[in-house]
Amino acid sequence: MNYEEMKEKLEKYNQTHVLAAYDRADDATKEKLLTQVERIDFEQLKELYHMTQTEIKFENNKIEPMPYVDSAKLNEEEKKKYIEIGENIIRSGKLAVVTMAGGQGTRLGHNGPKGTFDLGLESHKSLFEILTDYLKNACEKYHVTIPWYIMTSKDNNRDTVEFFESHNFFDYPKDGIRMFFKQGELPMLDENGKVIINEEGIIKEAADGHGGIFEAIFKDGALEDMKNRGIEWIFVGSVDNPLVKMADPLFIGYAAANNYMAASKTIVKAYPEEKVGVFCKKDGMPYVIEYTEISNEMAHQRDENGELSFGEAHMLLNLFNIQTLEKIKEVKLPYHSAHKKSNLVDEKGNVIIPEKPNAYKFETFIFDAFALIPDVGLLRGKREDDFAPVKNAEGNDSPVTARKLYEDYMKRNGMIC
Ligand code: UTP
Repeated sequence: MNYEEMKEKLEKYNQTHVLAAYDRADDATKEKLLTQVERIDFEQLKELYHMTQTEIKFENNKIEPMPYVDSAKLNEEEKKKYIEIGENIIRSGKLAVVTMAGGQGTRLGHNGPKGTFDLGLESHKSLFEILTDYLKNACEKYHVTIPWYIMTSKDNNRDTVEFFESHNFFDYPKDGIRMFFKQGELPMLDENGKVIINEEGIIKEAADGHGGIFEAIFKDGALEDMKNRGIEWIFVGSVDNPLVKMADPLFIGYAAANNYMAASKTIVKAYPEEKVGVFCKKDGMPYVIEYTEISNEMAHQRDENGELSFGEAHMLLNLFNIQTLEKIKEVKLPYHSAHKKSNLVDEKGNVIIPEKPNAYKFETFIFDAFALIPDVGLLRGKREDDFAPVKNAEGNDSPVTARKLYEDYMKRNGMIC
């Protein structure tokens, strides 16, 4: 694309402020801007901006509770059966693991990829090392190398790879970490729908949400690699939960024995107003309804056993059958917008550091894929065993709370952190 073509495209979409950035830029930055403008789908951005101005309503949808199984209520025979099936899958090399580590971790505010964050244990292990330890134990237990795929973003890919390299991949079995693949990204917009110019002088782009995994594992060849290795089940989890059980035979056996196309390990809401997304059925299909979308009445509704009807929280603990992933790669997930704070460079070249949200980021969510999968199994796990989120710098879901949960779990199970 040359300057004239860029100008024409920017004029068409009312984004001519980019030309001011171009005029200020050095040759290398000019080149980057040209490439960005050529690649970016401004028509899509126009639609996404329009979406930020529209409210989501559910009054025309039928919302119902979604059945689940509580792992604590399984009888010994059922448990044994599931564990046996799950262990066979792991042992025979049919399980792969994907860790989603492409997020920006804005709330935590750590300088670097979230996985490199030192949780503050006596051992000073990073989140990445904690996850590696878990998988190494599973590999030893089942005499197998579990193939591990790590999703990064364009922003944090290099730092992530260098971190693993500098720690000799935490001695994970050779060839076990199959690849660090990159998810897609989308430009961020200001409150008037204009693309943001960052401090580097180019259009600011951000990772396109954890739903980006479906396109990314396909595009970067991870899915193909799994197929070549005869993988049947793929556990997909987050990087910011040191209690994530990536090779849990009970969960895997539950999904496989019931022929589910995908399964999610849930945790019951601690209280009706807890700010978590919960599973439901929307027009007959599995759906995760956000805490911002659920009515007070629904949040408090209880079933005949006194359990919350909409209490199964989605915690990014998901298993997919490989055939399901093959299908999802062909579908576009809906975008959600998040109103965030973002530094930007204005038309005069001044760096603006906002005090309140001033920008929109667009993301797809992994759980929106459930709406495309009729057969999703829910297995309720236990909060204290499965979930220690590291989200905020302080307070709830912070390193302090996660560390305590992790240390308590390890102590309960006679393990060293
Ligand atoms: P969150 O949605 O909590 O986002 O990610 P985050 O980036 O870690 O933190 P904030 O919201 O900016 O403070 C949950 C999991 O999904 C991954 C994250 O790395 C984390 O493991 N994720 C999120 C991605 O891999 N890509 C994304 O685009 C977003």
